[in-house]
Amino acid sequence: MRVAVFGANGQLGKDVAAAFLAQGDEVAALTHEDVEVTSPDSVKQCLESARPELVINTAAFHNVNRCEDEPARAFAVNALGARNVAQVTDLLEAKLVHISTDYVFDGTKSTPYTEEDQPRPLNVYGNSKLSGEYFVRSINPRHFVVRVSAIYGENPCRAKEGLNFVELMLKTAREREEVRVVDDQRVTPTPTVEIARQLTLLSKTSDYGLFHATAESSCSWYEFARAIFDLTGTKVRLERPRPGEYPAKANRPKNSVLENAVLKSMSLNVFTHWKNGLENYLARREQASAVTRA
Ligand SMILES: NC(=O)c1ccc[n+]([C@@H]2O[C@H](COP(=O)([O-])OP(=O)(O)OC[C@H]3O[C@@H](n4cnc5c(N)ncnc54)[C@H](OP(=O)(O)O)[C@@H]3O)[C@@H](O)[C@H]2O)c1
Repeated sequence: MRVAVFGANGQLGKDVAAAFLAQGDEVAALTHEDVEVTSPDSVKQCLESARPELVINTAAFHNVNRCEDEPARAFAVNALGARNVAQVTDLLEAKLVHISTDYVFDGTKSTPYTEEDQPRPLNVYGNSKLSGEYFVRSINPRHFVVRVSAIYGENPCRAKEGLNFVELMLKTAREREEVRVVDDQRVTPTPTVEIARQLTLLSKTSDYGLFHATAESSCSWYEFARAIFDLTGTKVRLERPRPGEYPAKANRPKNSVLENAVLKSMSLNVFTHWKNGLENYLARREQASAVTRA
């Protein structure tokens, strides 16, 4: 199959391109240098030359605080960019996997959110991504809109100065005696390699629609940090911030845990417990550093 990946040098995009390549697909790995999603002409030219049967759009402006300051840019990339990709893939009769976010929810629910729950974003980022979802769902009927949460992987996250949460915690612990992490936001940390694998399976089907795709169970960021330090044997004092210590520019949901209800109903869900995903990530990380040391 001919596959095009947008955001292909990003944290998720790189793993997605690798997963489709590994199963023998022909992959056009498109970076921001190759395509500007805010430009209908750029998207059209790029896809008309690649002629993909499947497009995976991971491209986004997703620095949550910067989205508050630059709402026009957030909507240009996350909403109108998604519309441009949906329009051209529809013209080409290609399938479209569009990556979205848990931040479409307001976090007031006390249990995990399913695909049937009503979104109500709390910030510009979430609103722009939700708008992108609606464009994709209304324009290209061959869509898989896939919401992910708290992702991390071996490839640097380009929007977050190259450090995912695991690496940020380990770096901070090397530099300081104490690390402070919020304990009042529940998420499900999910490795990008697992999402990539899920997409290879989902995109083979014609069961189009809206999907939640995260690891199992949940934790607060504080609990995630605790697990990272415990599993790596890192000795550092872990504390919760004092009230008001980290004033946030953007409101964030207190609970953005997702339930993969649709994937499970299709018997297609590949995800395991988030702690298992973390153990696997740390094992791959250890292996990679052993190779570098050798
Ligand atoms: N990171 C998270 O925790 C998280 C959580 C939930 C959902 N998501 C979603 O997951 C997806 C992937 O995130 P990620 O962590 O892999 O992000 P990332 O590492 O920052 O990668 C995003 C990619 O999109 C490209 N891009 C940005 N603006 C573009 C534009 N206007 N036109 C074309 N390409 C553009 C970036 O290129 P440049 O860097 O060169 O601009 C980069 O290659 C996004 O849709 C995001 O909303 C992420």
